[in-house]
Amino acid sequence: MDALIIEGPTQLSGSVEVSGSKNSALPLLFASILFNDKVCYENIPRLWDIETTLKLLEMMGCGTEWDKEGGRVAIIPTVKSKLAPYEQVKKMRAGILALGPLVAKYGEAKVSLPGGCAIGARPVNYHIEALRKLGVTVEVEEGYIHASVVGKLVGAEILFPEVTVTGTENLLYVGVMAEGKTVLQNAACEPEVVALGEFLNSCGAKISGLGTHTITIEGGPLVTPSHPVQIPPDRIEAGTWVSIALATRSAIEITRCDTSQMTSVLAAFRQMGAKIEELNQGTCLKVIPTERYNPLHIETAPYPGFPTDMQAQILTLLCMAEGRSTVVESIFENRFMHVAELQRLGAKIEINGNVATIEGPAKFRGAPIMATDLRASACLVLAGLISKGTTKVSRIYHLDRGYQRLDEKLRRLGAKITRVAE
Ligand code: EPZ
Repeated sequence: MDALIIEGPTQLSGSVEVSGSKNSALPLLFASILFNDKVCYENIPRLWDIETTLKLLEMMGCGTEWDKEGGRVAIIPTVKSKLAPYEQVKKMRAGILALGPLVAKYGEAKVSLPGGCAIGARPVNYHIEALRKLGVTVEVEEGYIHASVVGKLVGAEILFPEVTVTGTENLLYVGVMAEGKTVLQNAACEPEVVALGEFLNSCGAKISGLGTHTITIEGGPLVTPSHPVQIPPDRIEAGTWVSIALATRSAIEITRCDTSQMTSVLAAFRQMGAKIEELNQGTCLKVIPTERYNPLHIETAPYPGFPTDMQAQILTLLCMAEGRSTVVESIFENRFMHVAELQRLGAKIEINGNVATIEGPAKFRGAPIMATDLRASACLVLAGLISKGTTKVSRIYHLDRGYQRLDEKLRRLGAKITRVAE
């Protein structure tokens, strides 16, 4: 396993380019299963989760090509096996996104239950209940979801008990192939869901209500896309760069982003006193360092609320605010593992249930710390950049799952950060 050694405190400068969105690329790659011919993609980020997805598709019989440097992928969807095995799905929960396309296209699927992860139990009961509403027979046995369609997939009205991003995505795949109309109530509005729905519409699907909590899908034939699918920029990576710029009080330019997807994140940072300019029709952010930050009360929520995937980053930044802040994690039941690591650096944080209370400003001093999950690992790197002395962040494979070469991008901005094998 690799670790990162960070010398701090460090000021950064320059411009950084945001990579393609992991949480957009994954559902779009699994969508290739719906087609008969090659599907090409551009701006695919170079991440472990992409590697795992391509491996999963290959195990199903698909052909895959990946130009890692160029960010181009091609999938030849020659599916032979409808199995998504535990050995791959346990590495990446998004493997559950094989379920919808296999059921939609082939009428059958055997997909491993993803199992929990550091941030929570992560059940998929909403996916299963919704599929049953469309006439899919679903049994869960020995850690696998066995799904089969006897006869036809028939559209239905579905109400999700809670907003679920991949649950909505799985039902988009199936709804476009079902007969008649499917209505998803309490659907997810995340930009990644909209990107998937707009892609399917470009292939002949009839999906309306994308970006709202009510999505209507008319089933019908799909046409293989004739142009490469463009992966949109990663709004969470962009938000992470803003938090790094603010924490290190660096004037950084963040390019190839889409600020229209970052409204709640930018509003929270500005409420803290940050000066952030939006340039070039919202594709570029310019962060201007400010001396002091105001404390904040922030709650995570489904889009367009403040994203849970940015919770660790803003919590770390709030350690520098002058006063008491509170962060409420409303989406996942165990998403404060980074707090214990931050406390090792000197953070003054108390956890009470799903509420973190932060006293600032805290003086961070470097120490060995350990990454526990994808987004938390980014906040620990951020913390190392503002800690006095040396910080070693171990288990950074979590980081490599979701951020394309974050340490290399930081070095180019002047960070004293090296990657070592542990
Ligand atoms: C997606 O996960 C993202 N992953 C997550 O990003 C993100 O944190 C999450 O949405 C919330 O925005 C991908 O898109 C690949 P959910 P997902 O279903 O779809 C409960 C990252 O760092 N729930 O929206 O798995 C669930 O436990 C990852 O990139 C059920 O109870 O999340 C959670 O409390 C981390 N039963 C809440 O709903 C279900 O069947 C939201 O989960 C489904 C979900």
